[in-house]
Amino acid sequence: MGRHVVGNAAELPPGSRKIVTLENRSIGVFNVNGAYYALKNSCPHQAAPLCAGPIKGTNLPSKPGEYRYAREGEIIRCPWHGWEFDLTNGKSLFDPHKCLVKTYEVAVEEVREEQEEPSVETYRVQIEANKVVVYI
Ligand code: FES
Repeated sequence: MGRHVVGNAAELPPGSRKIVTLENRSIGVFNVNGAYYALKNSCPHQAAPLCAGPIKGTNLPSKPGEYRYAREGEIIRCPWHGWEFDLTNGKSLFDPHKCLVKTYEVAVEEVREEQEEPSVETYRVQIEANKVVVYI
């Protein structure tokens, strides 16, 4: 499993995303209400750049004539034909058991920045706070 630091957690606040290329794969990293998720940036329909699509909510099941909009910020809509996927698990809303996007593990970790071994002078070593790390 490859471990990849994709940036500081502070640079990826709730509601934001970052699209990165890791091991020749385009991957979208999302902060959904303070939790981090990563999805393959390819729609299972016709391979559109899914992670560039709008982030929305969705309508929950309801009675005729009622609209129950919820889950704001948890759903991504494909920019080509509008298929919707749950950012938290990669499953499509219309067929969650058969149609899904590959997801990747994301963690927020303290990352120690390595510095070269000093030959004469010494250098301070810092621990950078809260880096977002993707495992693929
Ligand atoms: S390519 Fe995503 S819905 Fe068609």
